[in-house]
Formats: sequence, structure tokens, C-alpha cells
Amino acid sequence: MNRVGVALIGCGGISLQNHLPGLALCPQATVVALCDTDAGALERARRALDVAVITTRYEDILRRADVQAVILATPNVSHAPIALAAVAAGKHVFCEKPIAMNLAEAERMCAAARQAGVRHMTAFTYRFVPAMRYLAHLVRTGQLGEPCHFRACRLQDWGQRAIGWRQVARLAGTGELGDMLSHRIDYAHLLVGRVDRLAAATRRFHDQREGQPSDLEDWAALVADFTNGATGVWESSKVATGRGEGAHSQDYVEVNGTEGSAVFQLEHPHELQVARRGEPALRTVPVPAEFLKWPGSPRDPAQGDPLISFRYDQDFEFIQAIVEQRPCVPSWVEGAQAQAVMDAAVTAARERRWVTVPSL
Ligand SMILES: NC(=O)c1ccc[n+]([C@@H]2O[C@H](COP(=O)([O-])OP(=O)(O)OC[C@H]3O[C@@H](n4cnc5c(N)ncnc54)[C@H](O)[C@@H]3O)[C@@H](O)[C@H]2O)c1
Repeated sequence: MNRVGVALIGCGGISLQNHLPGLALCPQATVVALCDTDAGALERARRALDVAVITTRYEDILRRADVQAVILATPNVSHAPIALAAVAAGKHVFCEKPIAMNLAEAERMCAAARQAGVRHMTAFTYRFVPAMRYLAHLVRTGQLGEPCHFRACRLQDWGQRAIGWRQVARLAGTGELGDMLSHRIDYAHLLVGRVDRLAAATRRFHDQREGQPSDLEDWAALVADFTNGATGVWESSKVATGRGEGAHSQDYVEVNGTEGSAVFQLEHPHELQVARRGEPALRTVPVPAEFLKWPGSPRDPAQGDPLISFRYDQDFEFIQAIVEQRPCVPSWVEGAQAQAVMDAAVTAARERRWVTVPSL
């Protein structure tokens, strides 16, 4: 397949910020249709990219022969039903995270995609940060030795402002856990491996946001054992006053191995802090050129804001996997693995006990 016709289902924030510019960099992709249940969002997307086919019904998209691939960026509750319908129609699907409301849905999606032989990808966007790719390389090539500790901290100040579907359990599934921590669970899978068991705590600080009820957590924390014996600690908050928002707020990951330690901070996407065994302190190491973009990506890493532009590589990976008829990285399997940890965390926090994470 040399040309890929793409439809966006869900034309809100993330589609306009990440996916439209990402697809524009893919020589083989053409966006042929836009779908959103909200007429205003649809019109804003059409103004960003003048596409002939616009619709409020995803079923119209899935019937089209000129659509081979779908980017699914709706609120979490509709990921599984739309993804399953798209796969049944033979479409390749790039689904936003978290891919589902729970592990059972995520496993159904993986099984359906496998059976249909279509490409499936999870939008674990921060795997594409150059410094995260370099950190994964350091771990994979044994330069930090055997991992002992994984540590992640995501702090943002969203205060009490309304956050739409993100504050409603029946639309989002989980709060901070799925919204922010899911990415950091994926970091841990990428860097250390499978989580064996965990304890967790969650807390909602605001029952209302700008007068609208919120029934989801604003803060989540996990402590875990990995199957390889390493330990993991995660904390993620929407109510860390004064810590800012988005790419300029705290997104910290540290791996301590038997031979060295490395620290990732999203604010510095082109560097790591590293110390080898015996060295007295961390030192700043630039990310080598080969890690500054995804292999084959046409993106010039010197162009644009480095805190934004790496995100475009994920759309390139999706289209390239379709063209090359190979699995996407990360696929729905990685999405389901993160979901397994999230489901275990929900149980652990509710029942205040350690919970074993099922292996998929
Ligand atoms: N990968 C990342 O870093 C990242 C960042 C932000 C959001 N996300 C994920 O992307 C998804 C969307 O988030 P967002 O911030 O763009 O939300 P958003 O509210 O800005 O956009 C969602 C859009 O989907 C539309 N929609 C709702 N139901 C629909 C349906 N059945 N069919 C078609 N359109 C429908 C809404 O009208 C809205 O325009 C979520 O799953 C979120 O977790 C991922």
C-alpha cells in the first residue's frame, strides 16, 4: 500500500495539536475525512484542514473505501466500541490512550485486531521523546546494569478548573490514573519490564470543578514490584499548586541500575542526566543525533519547538507500519498492558491491599 487514506474520529484538542500536523509530515498519508459529534469541533478541524468529507457519525467513515486508517481521539468511553467497529470494517486504527475503560475491553480490542490482521497502535506519545528513546537504549544495552529502581513523578497545577469529560467516571473510566499515569506506566514497561504486583492510593480533592460534579481522582500513587525484582514508585497530580501545566510542568523519570543511574525530564527533551557507578553526581549528557527522531521520520529535529515536534513521529510510525505491513510500536498490546496495571491500581486503592497484575 503506497497511499493511506486517513480519517480522524474525534477532532478535539489532541487531534488538532498532534495528529493533523503529524499526518502532514507523512508523505504517504492523505486525510480524507473528519468526524466529530460536535458541529463546532468539526468546523474548527475543517478550518485547520479543508477536507471534503465531514460527518458527525463514525459509521459513515467506516463505510468508506477511501479510508484505510482511522485515528481515534474521542473521550475514553467510546474508544472500544468505535475501535471494534473500525477493525470489523478492516480499518487500521491508531487509538488514543488509555485505549479502553478496562482490561476486558482492551483485550477484546487486541483479539479483534489480531484476527482481522489490521495495524493497531496506542498513543503513548512520550515514548517518542528523544531523551526517552535514548534512556530506553541505555537500559536495553545494559549501560545502567540491572535495573533496581524505577521512579516517575508527574506534577501539574490544574487547580479547580472544569476539565469536561475528564472529570466524569462514566466517560473517562479513571481520572489522573488514565489521563497522566498511564503514560508513566508505559515508561516503566518500556524501561524495566512487567509489573508483578502493586499497592496504590488515589484521592479526589475537588468534588466539583467550576460548579460541575467530579467523581474521579485528581491524584494517584503506586508502589510496585516488577517481575525482574526491581521496584517502582509513581506519583501523579493535577493539584500540585504552582507547578504549571503541560510540557513545562514536572514529568520526571529516574532509573537506578547496578551500573548507573539516569534521569529524564520532559522539559529537557534532548538531554539526560547520567551517573555511572563510582561517579559522585549526575552529569548532563546530550541525546545523540540518531535518537533525535524516529527512524526514517522526515521531521527535522532542529525545526519547531522540541517539546512539541517529537509528537508528530507517532503518526509517522502508524503510517509507516501500514505501508511496511509490520506491527506498530507501541501497539494495543502495550495499551492493554498499561490497562492491566491501571485496573490493578483501581482495585488496590479501593480495597487497600496489594494486587497481582495479570500477565496478558
Ligand atoms: N497521547 C496524549 O498525550 C494525549 C493527550 C491528550 C489527550 N489524549 C487522549 O485523546 C483522547 C481525546 O482527548 P482530547 O483532549 O482531544 O479531548 P477533547 O474533548 O478535546 O476532544 C474529543 C473530541 O471527541 C468528540 N467526540 C466525542 N464522542 C464522539 C464520538 N462518539 N464520535 C466522534 N467524535 C466524538 C468530542 O466532540 C470532542 O471534539 C482521550 O482519550 C485522551 O485521553 C491523549
